[in-house]
Amino acid sequence: MRLAVFISGTGRSLQNLIECSKTTHKETFEIVCVASDNIFAPGLQYARTARIDNFVASEGLPERRDDLLLQFAFTHHVVDYICLAGYIKKLSIPPEHQYKVINIHPSLIPKFCGQGMYGSKVHQCVIKAKEQESGCTVHFCDNEYDHGPIILQKKLIIDPSWDYQNLATEVFKLEKEAYPEALTFLKTGEQ
Ligand code: GRF
Repeated sequence: MRLAVFISGTGRSLQNLIECSKTTHKETFEIVCVASDNIFAPGLQYARTARIDNFVASEGLPERRDDLLLQFAFTHHVVDYICLAGYIKKLSIPPEHQYKVINIHPSLIPKFCGQGMYGSKVHQCVIKAKEQESGCTVHFCDNEYDHGPIILQKKLIIDPSWDYQNLATEVFKLEKEAYPEALTFLKTGEQ
């Protein structure tokens, strides 16, 4: 499968997907392009290092920015899917690209998600709510934040001694498995 990855920040998920595409999952997917809404996204460095075509549609461009990003991926690079990986803006997805944009979120959707719920805030809220479990969710995107049909969830039990940083570390370990597993499922129908 040909994939685009969209990022806004550090690109840890992008780094993981690039690594998987060259090793454990090289028969399953390749990352053909990377896009960001943030010209300063440190994660763009992973795309440059791996010589993956990259594109920035940053703040300040007029309202057609989402169209530019979608065109870059679907028209220019003919990707099968766009994977959001720490992409924090809401992407406007037209009907023809329904079920073609995927996201990973660091909680068990529908809990602890939605506008503004990203990064360490998610884990802080989970700890504050004294939840017994958390995890991550890979899902198709619709036009609401962190919303759409779920492809895969992975859960963990929260150790009562953990703070939000411990939780973030453990959830990210699950995320590193969950995204490639979800992509494998989309390709083969097998988990
Ligand atoms: C991950 O926690 C993911 O669930 C969320 O963004 C984080 C990855 O961002 N969507 P980054 O790769 O560190 O920029």
